[in-house]
Amino acid sequence: MAQINPSILSADFARLAEEAKAVEGADWLHVDVMDNHFVPNLTLGVPIVEAIGKATDIPLDCHLMIEDPDRWAPQYVEAGAGSVTFHAEAAAAPVRLAREIRAKGARASMALKPATPIEPYEDLLPELDMLLIMTVEPGFGGQAFLDIMLPKIRRTRELIGKHGLELWLQVDGGVSATTIERCAEAGADVFVAGSAVYGAQDPAAAVRELRAQADAVTAAAPWACGH
Ligand code: DX5
Ligand code: ZN
Repeated sequence: MAQINPSILSADFARLAEEAKAVEGADWLHVDVMDNHFVPNLTLGVPIVEAIGKATDIPLDCHLMIEDPDRWAPQYVEAGAGSVTFHAEAAAAPVRLAREIRAKGARASMALKPATPIEPYEDLLPELDMLLIMTVEPGFGGQAFLDIMLPKIRRTRELIGKHGLELWLQVDGGVSATTIERCAEAGADVFVAGSAVYGAQDPAAAVRELRAQADAVTAAAPWACGH
């Protein structure tokens, strides 16, 4: 079944506990950590992740858009994140870092910016629990979905099949009712949605509707056989 991860980047930062409750039924809460160096925006860090984790039962999917994740990522596991995503472009030693995240008890995930190809990372995939393909340039919510990323999603899905991996394939950026089906058809199974969820009248209903749309496509997808 498709997983829908609302991004709190589009939520009201002064009411994060209530905003987490507003998406009850979501699979994970996507928390965008930005350091104003790796991306030109600044959001939140370890203490706020810890506070959000205490305020909700939804597991936290922390997306670290920061430099030097080798140094900082383990702290997000300690803060209570169930999944920690670092960027391939920022990690000095991605294998060591993924192993450290797993050893500390969280799911290890690696993200690729739009211009970063998947192919150089083929041999690393068994070290990961999730691969995140950015479908916008990271840094801001509400940007337009990049259709040019669909071939990369497809190629990644093929690599997952080729190696028989239990790897989740996440997309993040511009995912909405108009683009989620394209992502699901290409092979994504975890969908981050910020503005499409928090911009909706009823965010929890938006989560259910997005999941139903993705599931309908996945049910017919050849890559999902026996999924
Ligand atoms: C962008 C963030 C995304 C963002 C997505 O850099 O990583 O998680 O919140 O927002 P939407 O869904 O509005 O594109
Ligand atoms: Zn994100």
